[in-house]
Amino acid sequence: MRPDTRRPGFHRLTPSERRATVFGEDPALEALFASGGWDADFADRWVEDVLGPLALPFSVAPNFVINGEPRWVPMCTEEPSVVAAAAHGARLAAACGGFVCEAGEAVATAQLQLVVSDPAAAWASIEARADALVAELAPLDPALFAHGGGPERLERGAVFADELIVHLHVRTADAMGANAANTFAEALAPRLEALTGGAVIGRILTNAYPRRLTRAAAELPVEALAHGGISGEAVAERMLRLARWAERDPLRAVTHDKGILNGILAVTLATANDTRAVAMAAAAHACGPGGLRPLSAWSRSADGARLRCELALPLPLGTVGGLTVAHPLVRRVLEALDLTSAARLCETAAACGLANHVAALRALAGEGIQAGHMALHARKQDPTS
Ligand code: MEV
Repeated sequence: MRPDTRRPGFHRLTPSERRATVFGEDPALEALFASGGWDADFADRWVEDVLGPLALPFSVAPNFVINGEPRWVPMCTEEPSVVAAAAHGARLAAACGGFVCEAGEAVATAQLQLVVSDPAAAWASIEARADALVAELAPLDPALFAHGGGPERLERGAVFADELIVHLHVRTADAMGANAANTFAEALAPRLEALTGGAVIGRILTNAYPRRLTRAAAELPVEALAHGGISGEAVAERMLRLARWAERDPLRAVTHDKGILNGILAVTLATANDTRAVAMAAAAHACGPGGLRPLSAWSRSADGARLRCELALPLPLGTVGGLTVAHPLVRRVLEALDLTSAARLCETAAACGLANHVAALRALAGEGIQAGHMALHARKQDPTS
């Protein structure tokens, strides 16, 4: 069993004491933290026209229990009070056993825009050769294939008067999968053209990731929700009412979901994943016919003693490829926190999003978010506090 990450007073330690608590004595990691993990040369090789690196605070949130296992959650954010909120939400959830999370399927989908005079006939030709077309692509990425990934199947997407959209699903194993999906799509394009006599224009991944739906759920003890002089019972009812507001009002849903992304994007950034891809996948999932919808659903247990909250959103996160493995600090932290599989990382990010959301709704239902937020802002003005 892993050591509990519930450490009262963790927030009062110095950064170096926190590092020792989480990682033990690790001189290599100490050196990486001292340099921020980026040096100017590495930054210049990674991105264009670089002037120098910009460091952000790198935190670890305590108190998380995910699928019965204590975990530290890496978070990188510029917003004060987000890490404290995650730790607080996680502590409330841990009182009822923690978060139950399930990562979505590691599948990315590329789209090919085939311009063709008879889309129905074109799809019939493609479908008849689909298995062979997919099999021909597999050798293009032997590393992905070795890890159990690779192109999976073709599917018909949207059909317009003179256009057929073809979907190529790709199993991405522990990768986020954008590069693999785009590589396979570009290789498939001339084959589709030869087969149908059409012309492929666009061939690119969709950032919607509909099959990567990750779920997180937690229960909270009602009596522990008491806040700002308001009883737990009253706070619970007010939290349910806040959740209902987000269901009925898209303008509120945007901010409700932003509170969830506070945690998810902090984990995304701390693990050098693609924040824009995660934000758009979440937005696409939250979008309904009348505007944005809440990503979470709230209810009360039959005996009334617990509040239950559930979260579902697609999470395109990877632990191999890109900056996630190239950045020495990120790679070392993922290894040390046992977050080297994409599934574990997705579960962790979803739990963090839910923890932030729990803390936000509880504060809103109690004395408001400004009291806690402002206390943490005040610390910035007074380095001795
Ligand atoms: C602030 O970063 C996030 C909140 O606005 C979320 C919410 O309103 O639910 C507090």
